[in-house]
Amino acid sequence: MYYSEEIIEEVRSRNDIVDIISGYVALKKQGNNYFGICPFHNEKSPSFSVNRRGQFFHCFGCGKGGNVFTFVCEYENFSFPEAVKFLADRSGIALPEVEMTPEMKKHAGEKQKLMEIQKEAATFYYYQLRNGSGSTGLEYFKNDRKLSDETMKKFGLGYSLKYTDAMYRYLKEKGYEDELIQKSGLCDYSEKYGFNDKFINRVMFPIFDIHDKVIAFGGRVMGDGKPKYLNSPETPIFNKSRTVYGLNFARTSRKDRIIMCEGYMDVIAMHQGGFTEACASLGTAFTYEQANLIKRYSKNIYLAYDSDGAGTAAALKNIKILHECGLGCRVIDLKPCKDPDEFLKTYGPEEFEKRIENAINGFMFEIGKLREEYPPGNPDDETNFQKETAKKLCRYKDELERDNYLKAVCREYGIQEKLMEDYVRKVSSAMELKGDEDKDDTAVTGLKSGRKEAPSADDAIKNAQRAFLTFIVEDPPLYLKLKDYISVTDFTDPLYCKVAGIMFEEIESDGFNPGAIISSFPETDDQRLVAEIFSTKVGNIEGDSQKNQTIKDLIIKIRDNAISDYQLKNATDGNAIMKTIKDRKALDEFKHKELNLY
Ligand code: CTP
Ligand code: MN
Repeated sequence: MYYSEEIIEEVRSRNDIVDIISGYVALKKQGNNYFGICPFHNEKSPSFSVNRRGQFFHCFGCGKGGNVFTFVCEYENFSFPEAVKFLADRSGIALPEVEMTPEMKKHAGEKQKLMEIQKEAATFYYYQLRNGSGSTGLEYFKNDRKLSDETMKKFGLGYSLKYTDAMYRYLKEKGYEDELIQKSGLCDYSEKYGFNDKFINRVMFPIFDIHDKVIAFGGRVMGDGKPKYLNSPETPIFNKSRTVYGLNFARTSRKDRIIMCEGYMDVIAMHQGGFTEACASLGTAFTYEQANLIKRYSKNIYLAYDSDGAGTAAALKNIKILHECGLGCRVIDLKPCKDPDEFLKTYGPEEFEKRIENAINGFMFEIGKLREEYPPGNPDDETNFQKETAKKLCRYKDELERDNYLKAVCREYGIQEKLMEDYVRKVSSAMELKGDEDKDDTAVTGLKSGRKEAPSADDAIKNAQRAFLTFIVEDPPLYLKLKDYISVTDFTDPLYCKVAGIMFEEIESDGFNPGAIISSFPETDDQRLVAEIFSTKVGNIEGDSQKNQTIKDLIIKIRDNAISDYQLKNATDGNAIMKTIKDRKALDEFKHKELNLY
């Protein structure tokens, strides 16, 4: 751990979670909590809740949750120390300087080390390009790709040597262990050949995260070899589907738009031509995560994809993904050129700017492509074209929006508006009946699968344990009234047991602090689960007597399960049998007891 627990707690307590999150998400107060649209998954109605008193957040839709550190880590893609630094700076807390001794280095997190390795590698490749041995690479960039020194420097371009293990030896020299080198993705290991570099004799493109840190590489052959591009594999610090190449630059471009391209060279050529708002999804596949990521920086998206079949197919797919993430887009026509790189070289930036101005609305582009499949003239094709168009119009749930698109399409293709309107209405209600609509939330997060299944007995028990703890979080002194009837050991789930233990102890000593409890779990997944424990929905409870009854039922359920669990684990132990009998009797008495908590 970098910083002391005291410092971390001070930073946490000086950064109110509602203040911080409202800098990113519009929140509305609702009862004791604040609600907003979750920034971590795609949704239309707010299920993202922030609890000011408890200083934690939880999304009822996707399950993400934690305290203010968790939020900042997830949203900004920070490591924990980076999040501490960020929030400390924000609240004017001076952090002690941490000088990494060799000993600390050894213990620093694996991710941290992998980041260091990528940085070392980038420096190495960068140096080789400028050193005599990289002259072919340098010539390639300068002569073939027409890149300036400034551009090469900005993108940290480099060169990987011809030797099969130059990087391996370099990293070994720097003191990194084989296991870590293998994890970095820079070298492959095989029984037969030992360690070999992944990138050999290629020009190198470092891939940055949004904080300008190198997390992976792409390497291109100089000339026509195959594969044209090689990319780092996924590693603990490189999640392909969450990375957008060049977004670190594009997000600060102050252009109020983002231009998505297909590849490394497109982005680089665009920046060299002054379009610093360009970035790329690396290859044609664009993910929902990438869409949600760029959405944070601009809602004004342009697609500058290759004008070939693959580029068009990618554009069509991405228009749909962007739409499902609540984003419209416009498509830039690059013809007669193949891609932005070629366009800029042939016609220059001014012409490109004109193409941006004339970019066509994503939906209209889609319909245009559909028209190519069903050319005018043949009545059957005409019918199919109109039917397909109607289906696509159903995507728009907002009446005004749908109507505007409908009108635009009808105008463009000479379709009778009234006919189309009626048809769209019919298709739309048929789709609703079939339950075809609103698939998008699921598609975006992939999280709903499994959530809808009927709860198992195990889930029901966990749910009861969670609900009980949520009641206590809402009203901590309640625990003092109930502690004779329930204890830490009744929480059979290990994580719940641990959380209950900390909670009960803190309430006894009057120092209960949910946000701080979350800090004591280093893993993001655990933080999420703890926030979930604090945020269980208990349905509508009206009046005190119903509240009394609900809590009593929860205790009965939890105790009953705990006794059975204990009995099962100690089946052959005589004393345990006696204890079980005693406990059962006590529980029976409790069942007949009147609880007056409120
Ligand atoms: N790509 C890849 N692996 C390949 C081919 C392509 O990862 N074998 C990715 C790269 O990110 C590349 C992008 O897809 O930048 C676009 O591919 P392509 O259109 O083939 O390359 P160009 O951008 O035209 O690259 P260049 O101009 O260098 O030929
Ligand atoms: Mn291309």
